[in-house]
Amino acid sequence: MLSSTIITRCKVIADILGKQTFRGKTLLELGARHGDCGAFFSRLGAKVTCLDRPKNLKKAKEKHPKLKFIECDLNNEFPEGQWDIITNMLTLHHLADPEWALWKMFPHSDLFIIESRVINSDDPHLFIQTTKTMKRQQENYSPTKKACTAAFFESTFKDCGLQWERHDDARLNTPFLRYDWKVTETKNMNRGTSRLWTVWR
Ligand SMILES: C[S@@+](CC[C@H](N)C(=O)[O-])C[C@H]1O[C@@H](n2cnc3c(N)ncnc32)[C@H](O)[C@@H]1O
Repeated sequence: MLSSTIITRCKVIADILGKQTFRGKTLLELGARHGDCGAFFSRLGAKVTCLDRPKNLKKAKEKHPKLKFIECDLNNEFPEGQWDIITNMLTLHHLADPEWALWKMFPHSDLFIIESRVINSDDPHLFIQTTKTMKRQQENYSPTKKACTAAFFESTFKDCGLQWERHDDARLNTPFLRYDWKVTETKNMNRGTSRLWTVWR
Protein backbone atom coordinates (compact mmCIF):
# COMPACT_ATOMS: atom_id res chain seq x y z
CA MET A 1 0.00 0.00 0.00
CA LEU A 2 1.26 3.50 -0.82
CA SER A 3 1.16 6.13 1.93
CA SER A 4 -1.62 8.70 1.58
CA THR A 5 0.73 11.74 1.79
CA ILE A 6 2.72 10.31 -1.10
CA ILE A 7 -0.37 9.58 -3.18
CA THR A 8 -1.64 13.14 -2.53
CA ARG A 9 1.58 14.74 -3.81
CA CYS A 10 2.07 12.34 -6.72
CA LYS A 11 -1.53 12.80 -7.90
CA VAL A 12 -1.03 16.57 -8.06
CA ILE A 13 2.21 16.06 -10.04
CA ALA A 14 0.38 13.73 -12.45
CA ASP A 15 -2.32 16.42 -12.83
CA ILE A 16 0.27 19.14 -13.48
CA LEU A 17 2.24 17.20 -16.10
CA GLY A 18 -0.58 15.01 -17.40
CA LYS A 19 -0.64 11.24 -16.84
CA GLN A 20 0.48 10.60 -20.43
CA THR A 21 3.83 12.31 -19.68
CA PHE A 22 4.84 9.21 -17.71
CA ARG A 23 3.67 6.47 -20.09
CA GLY A 24 6.65 4.47 -21.43
CA LYS A 25 9.18 6.96 -20.03
CA THR A 26 12.30 6.10 -18.04
CA LEU A 27 12.15 7.76 -14.62
CA LEU A 28 14.84 7.98 -11.96
CA GLU A 29 13.58 8.67 -8.46
CA LEU A 30 16.28 10.21 -6.24
CA GLY A 31 15.98 9.66 -2.48
CA ALA A 32 13.30 7.08 -3.13
CA ARG A 33 13.01 5.87 0.49
CA HIS A 34 10.56 2.96 0.29
CA GLY A 35 9.95 3.51 -3.42
CA ASP A 36 6.33 4.62 -3.05
CA CYS A 37 6.55 7.67 -5.35
CA GLY A 38 8.31 5.46 -7.92
CA ALA A 39 5.59 2.83 -7.58
CA PHE A 40 2.94 5.50 -8.20
CA PHE A 41 4.65 6.67 -11.42
CA SER A 42 5.23 3.05 -12.45
CA ARG A 43 1.45 2.55 -12.29
CA LEU A 44 1.18 5.41 -14.80
CA GLY A 45 3.41 3.41 -17.16
CA ALA A 46 6.88 4.79 -16.31
CA LYS A 47 9.94 2.49 -16.21
CA VAL A 48 11.14 3.43 -12.76
CA THR A 49 14.57 3.18 -11.13
CA CYS A 50 14.72 4.05 -7.42
CA LEU A 51 17.93 5.50 -6.00
CA ASP A 52 18.78 5.79 -2.32
CA ARG A 53 21.35 4.81 0.24
CA PRO A 54 21.48 1.00 0.75
CA LYS A 55 19.58 0.82 4.06
CA ASN A 56 16.43 2.45 2.74
CA LEU A 57 16.48 0.47 -0.47
CA LYS A 58 16.10 -2.82 1.43
CA LYS A 59 12.48 -1.99 2.27
CA ALA A 60 11.83 -0.55 -1.19
CA LYS A 61 13.06 -3.78 -2.83
CA GLU A 62 10.76 -5.88 -0.63
CA LYS A 63 7.79 -3.60 -1.19
CA HIS A 64 8.18 -2.98 -4.93
CA PRO A 65 10.24 -5.89 -6.34
CA LYS A 66 9.39 -5.03 -9.96
CA LEU A 67 11.14 -1.64 -9.85
CA LYS A 68 14.87 -1.22 -10.57
CA PHE A 69 17.26 0.03 -7.89
CA ILE A 70 20.54 1.94 -7.66
CA GLU A 71 22.48 2.33 -4.42
CA CYS A 72 24.17 5.72 -4.37
CA ASP A 73 25.19 8.49 -1.99
CA LEU A 74 24.13 11.75 -3.63
CA ASN A 75 26.61 13.68 -1.51
CA ASN A 76 29.49 12.16 -3.44
CA GLU A 77 28.31 10.76 -6.75
CA PHE A 78 25.63 10.50 -9.45
CA PRO A 79 25.02 7.33 -11.48
CA GLU A 80 25.91 7.13 -15.17
CA GLY A 81 22.97 7.22 -17.57
CA GLN A 82 20.13 9.30 -19.04
CA TRP A 83 16.49 9.26 -18.00
CA ASP A 84 13.42 10.90 -19.57
CA ILE A 85 12.35 12.21 -16.16
CA ILE A 86 14.22 12.62 -12.87
CA THR A 87 12.28 13.21 -9.65
CA ASN A 88 14.09 14.77 -6.70
CA MET A 89 11.42 14.92 -4.03
CA LEU A 90 12.08 16.00 -0.43
CA THR A 91 15.71 14.89 -0.58
CA LEU A 92 17.80 18.00 -1.37
CA HIS A 93 17.40 19.51 2.12
CA HIS A 94 18.96 16.32 3.55
CA LEU A 95 22.16 16.75 1.54
CA ALA A 96 25.41 18.42 2.56
CA ASP A 97 25.60 20.50 -0.62
CA PRO A 98 22.31 20.78 -2.57
CA GLU A 99 23.89 23.04 -5.22
CA TRP A 100 26.57 20.47 -6.04
CA ALA A 101 23.89 17.75 -6.17
CA LEU A 102 21.77 19.81 -8.60
CA TRP A 103 24.71 20.50 -10.94
CA LYS A 104 25.56 16.76 -10.92
CA MET A 105 21.93 15.83 -11.70
CA PHE A 106 21.02 18.26 -14.48
CA PRO A 107 23.08 16.69 -17.31
CA HIS A 108 21.16 13.40 -16.88
CA SER A 109 17.68 14.46 -18.11
CA ASP A 110 15.67 17.23 -19.77
CA LEU A 111 12.72 17.09 -17.34
CA PHE A 112 12.82 17.24 -13.54
CA ILE A 113 10.34 17.29 -10.68
CA ILE A 114 12.08 19.04 -7.79
CA GLU A 115 10.59 19.36 -4.33
CA SER A 116 12.27 20.53 -1.15
CA ARG A 117 11.63 22.01 2.23
CA VAL A 118 12.89 25.59 2.06
CA ILE A 119 13.67 28.55 4.32
CA ASN A 120 11.03 31.30 4.47
CA SER A 121 13.09 34.07 2.83
CA ASP A 122 13.72 35.56 -0.60
CA ASP A 123 17.49 35.71 -0.01
CA PRO A 124 19.20 33.30 -2.44
CA HIS A 125 22.37 33.31 -0.28
CA LEU A 126 20.70 32.38 3.02
CA PHE A 127 21.11 28.80 4.22
CA ILE A 128 20.78 26.80 7.44
CA GLN A 129 23.40 24.15 8.04
CA THR A 130 22.77 21.52 10.71
CA THR A 131 24.91 18.68 11.99
CA LYS A 132 23.33 15.63 13.59
CA THR A 133 25.14 12.89 15.41
CA MET A 134 22.25 10.49 15.99
CA LYS A 135 22.87 6.96 14.73
CA ARG A 136 19.79 7.03 12.51
CA GLN A 137 20.97 10.24 10.92
CA GLN A 138 24.41 8.80 10.25
CA GLU A 139 23.01 5.70 8.60
CA ASN A 140 20.28 7.22 6.45
CA TYR A 141 21.10 10.88 6.13
CA SER A 142 24.17 13.09 5.91
CA PRO A 143 25.51 14.10 9.33
CA THR A 144 25.62 17.61 7.87
CA LYS A 145 22.76 18.98 5.82
CA LYS A 146 22.05 22.34 4.26
CA ALA A 147 18.62 23.90 3.80
CA CYS A 148 18.25 26.70 1.25
CA THR A 149 15.63 29.16 0.01
CA ALA A 150 13.38 28.86 -3.04
CA ALA A 151 15.25 31.90 -4.41
CA PHE A 152 18.48 29.88 -4.26
CA PHE A 153 16.89 26.99 -6.19
CA GLU A 154 15.49 29.31 -8.85
CA SER A 155 18.81 31.12 -9.30
CA THR A 156 20.53 27.73 -9.68
CA PHE A 157 17.97 26.65 -12.34
CA LYS A 158 18.69 29.94 -14.16
CA ASP A 159 22.48 29.50 -13.90
CA CYS A 160 22.08 26.00 -15.38
CA GLY A 161 20.13 27.41 -18.36
CA LEU A 162 16.88 25.69 -17.36
CA GLN A 163 13.26 26.82 -17.38
CA TRP A 164 10.92 26.18 -14.50
CA GLU A 165 7.44 26.56 -13.09
CA ARG A 166 6.69 26.65 -9.37
CA HIS A 167 3.50 25.02 -8.13
CA ASP A 168 2.26 26.67 -4.92
CA ASP A 169 -0.71 24.35 -4.98
CA ALA A 170 -2.71 23.93 -1.75
CA ARG A 171 -3.60 20.39 -2.87
CA LEU A 172 0.04 19.42 -2.14
CA ASN A 173 -0.28 20.36 1.55
CA THR A 174 0.07 17.55 4.09
CA PRO A 175 -0.02 17.79 7.90
CA PHE A 176 3.74 18.53 7.97
CA LEU A 177 4.40 20.28 4.65
CA ARG A 178 2.90 23.45 3.19
CA TYR A 179 3.17 24.75 -0.36
CA ASP A 180 0.59 27.60 -0.53
CA TRP A 181 2.49 30.08 1.66
CA LYS A 182 3.86 33.57 1.04
CA VAL A 183 7.39 34.66 1.96
CA THR A 184 7.34 36.63 5.24
CA GLU A 185 11.12 36.55 5.92
CA THR A 186 10.92 34.49 9.13
CA LYS A 187 14.27 33.04 7.95
CA ASN A 188 13.34 29.63 9.36
CA MET A 189 11.62 26.47 8.12
CA ASN A 190 8.86 26.33 10.72
CA ARG A 191 5.38 25.40 9.52
CA GLY A 192 6.75 22.96 6.92
CA THR A 193 7.57 25.57 4.27
CA SER A 194 8.14 23.61 1.05
CA ARG A 195 8.21 24.25 -2.70
CA LEU A 196 7.71 22.11 -5.78
CA TRP A 197 8.86 22.88 -9.32
CA THR A 198 8.75 21.30 -12.72
CA VAL A 199 12.05 22.12 -14.42
CA TRP A 200 12.97 21.54 -18.05
CA ARG A 201 15.61 22.27 -20.66
C1 LIG B 1 12.12 12.46 3.20
S1 LIG B 1 12.66 11.09 2.26
C2 LIG B 1 11.85 11.38 0.72
C3 LIG B 1 11.17 10.16 0.20
C4 LIG B 1 10.38 10.36 -1.10
N1 LIG B 1 11.23 10.87 -2.17
C5 LIG B 1 9.20 11.29 -0.90
O1 LIG B 1 9.15 12.34 -1.55
O2 LIG B 1 8.31 10.97 -0.13
C6 LIG B 1 14.35 11.52 1.89
C7 LIG B 1 15.12 10.38 1.28
O3 LIG B 1 16.39 10.87 0.84
C8 LIG B 1 17.36 9.85 1.08
N2 LIG B 1 18.70 10.42 1.18
C9 LIG B 1 19.16 11.27 2.11
N3 LIG B 1 20.46 11.53 1.90
C10 LIG B 1 20.82 10.84 0.80
C11 LIG B 1 22.03 10.70 0.07
N4 LIG B 1 23.14 11.32 0.48
N5 LIG B 1 22.06 9.91 -1.02
C12 LIG B 1 20.93 9.26 -1.43
N6 LIG B 1 19.74 9.35 -0.79
C13 LIG B 1 19.68 10.13 0.32
C14 LIG B 1 16.92 9.24 2.42
O4 LIG B 1 17.50 7.96 2.60
C15 LIG B 1 15.41 9.24 2.25
O5 LIG B 1 14.96 8.04 1.71
